Amino acid sequence: MTISDSSVAIIGAGNIGSILAAEFAAGGQDFLLAGRDADVARKIAASLNGHAEAVSVDEAVQRAGVLVIAVWLDDFKQLIAQYGERLAGKVIVDPSNPVGPDGAGGYHKVIGEQESAGQILAGLLPAGAQLVKAFGTLSGPSLSAAARQEPERAVLFYAADDEAAGGLVADLIRSAGFDPVQVGGLDQSIRIEMFGDLHEVGALGRVVTRSEALKAI
Ligand SMILES: NC(=O)c1ccc[n+]([C@@H]2O[C@H](COP(=O)([O-])OP(=O)(O)OC[C@H]3O[C@@H](n4cnc5c(N)ncnc54)[C@H](OP(=O)(O)O)[C@@H]3O)[C@@H](O)[C@H]2O)c1
Repeated sequence: MTISDSSVAIIGAGNIGSILAAEFAAGGQDFLLAGRDADVARKIAASLNGHAEAVSVDEAVQRAGVLVIAVWLDDFKQLIAQYGERLAGKVIVDPSNPVGPDGAGGYHKVIGEQESAGQILAGLLPAGAQLVKAFGTLSGPSLSAAARQEPERAVLFYAADDEAAGGLVADLIRSAGFDPVQVGGLDQSIRIEMFGDLHEVGALGRVVTRSEALKAI
């Protein structure tokens, strides 16, 4: 366990949830894993050398201080509505990109051009919950390929208003095998969401290391 005083959970055992689970485990990070389908979460957890414990979403919310919610934006909103005050005091990690299929094989943004999922979701949380935008800047395949990259680690950007919450998530980014670079507060979320200037599917267009990241910021 690398974040010792605040247990970590991943909620959502789909594409990004399962990739993050594998990278956390590879970095020695213990965590809870909750999917909608308990069998899927159990199967993933069983392959991760004892680093993951499959639990229900209810149990993850109850036990963990840091919740990585790896679901689509509408499901994320629904989870916040469902758990409400039970999220107070938690760090909520948001990897979501506010996009949907454009009908032509690509994606388009499903919220206003100037809006970010990070700010929308933060506005729905109860007082005392801290949202940190992280883990959404790379596609799943890039996230897998670039973890623990040598000789220089690849960067994952994050945005946070609360310094302590941001610090915890920076540690989690290190556990996943990346170099954390803070882009600013949550008002900068839009830059690290899909089509943003610091996103792989945006102006940046690729995986970067720290020196390249600092120039791009
Ligand atoms: N895929 C990527 O390359 C990528 C990269 C960066 C960020 N992201 C972002 O990550 C998020 C997830 O994307 P994804 O590709 O991982 O999607 P996905 O493969 O469809 O996985 C989403 C998962 O969320 C689960 N889920 C939905 N509501 C839930 C709930 N209430 N409780 C527990 N689990 C719930 C779904 O379960 P069911 O199967 O039962 O519906 C599914 O397993 C999105 O916001 C996306 O924008 C994706």
